[in-house]
Amino acid sequence: MPLVTSKEMLWAALEGHFAVGAFNANNMEQVQAIIDAAVEEHAPVILQVSQGAIRYAGLNFAAAMVKAAAADADVPVVLHLDHGTDFAQNVRCLRAGFTSLMYDGSKEPFEVNVANTRRIVEIADIVGIPVEAELGRVLQATDGATEEEIEAAKTDPAQAREFVERTGCSSLAVAIGSVHAMKTAEAELDIERLKKLRAAVNIPFVLHGSSGVKEESEVEAIQYGICKINVATMLNQAFTRGLLEAIQEDPENVDPRKWLIKSREAVKEVVRHKIRLFGSSGKVTASGFVSPKTVHRGVHIGGTEE
Ligand code: G3H
Ligand code: ZN
Repeated sequence: MPLVTSKEMLWAALEGHFAVGAFNANNMEQVQAIIDAAVEEHAPVILQVSQGAIRYAGLNFAAAMVKAAAADADVPVVLHLDHGTDFAQNVRCLRAGFTSLMYDGSKEPFEVNVANTRRIVEIADIVGIPVEAELGRVLQATDGATEEEIEAAKTDPAQAREFVERTGCSSLAVAIGSVHAMKTAEAELDIERLKKLRAAVNIPFVLHGSSGVKEESEVEAIQYGICKINVATMLNQAFTRGLLEAIQEDPENVDPRKWLIKSREAVKEVVRHKIRLFGSSGKVTASGFVSPKTVHRGVHIGGTEE
C-alpha cells in the first residue's frame, strides 16, 4: 500500500498502549528486512532514514527504495526522517515524499529549537505531514556521556508543555535516560520522569537510543506513553554479525548475495523480536487494514537465471 503518515499510527499506539517500531535503514537489505518482518507480524511500521543514511544512499534513492518496498506490503509503512538537524534537509525530504519528519533542535538553545520546530511544523502542516521534535537531549555513547551529563540532559516536564504548545509538534522525543549507540542493553529509563512528562503533555512520546535500554524498561515505558521506539545500532550489529558469520562459513564465495541474505535474515529476526516486544504485532488486522501475507524473498540463489 502507499506510504502513510505517522500521526494516526502513533495516536493509535498511545490509545492502545503499544509502541510502533521505528527502524533505521541504510541499504536495500535493511529496508527489505524491516518491511518483511512487519508484514509477517501484521504490524504497522516506521522505516526511518537519518541524514547519514541519506548521505550514504542518496535522498531520492533512499525514498524510492522505501516507497517500492511499502507498495508491495499489506501493512502501513511510514517513511520518516530521523534526526533532521538541518532545516533545509527537512524541506528536501518533504519534497521527496517523506510522510513524517523530525526536526532535531536538541543541541540548540530553547528559543531557537522552538522557532525552528515551529517553522517546520507550519510548512509540513500545509501538506499534512507530522513533525517529531526533540527537547532535552539524548546523548551519544561515542561522546562518552557521564551519568551527570545524562541526568542534566533529561527533558523538563514544564518546559516540554510550553514547547509543545508553542511549536504544535505532533510527537516529542524525550530524554529519559537512554543514550544513542550503546552496544549492550544496560540502561534503565527514568520512569518517574516519564510519568511527569505524561502528566504535562498529551501527545505521543518517542524513545531514542533504544539499543542500550533494558527490554523490561522499554516495556514499562510503553505503559506511560512511549509510542514510537527508535532502533538503529542493534540492527547494524545484527547485519554485521550475519555478514561476518556468512563470510567465515564460505570464505571462497564471490557472490555477495549469498552473504547479504544472512545479513538480511539477521536484521529481520531482530525487527521481529522488537515488534513483538513493543506489542505492535497483529495490530494491522485490529486496525482494519487488509490481511497480511508472508514474504519469501531470496530463498533460491544460484543458476543462470539469477
Ligand atoms: O534515532 C535513532 C535511534 O535513536 C536509535 O538509537 O542506535 O541506540 O538504537 P540506537
Ligand atoms: Zn535517535
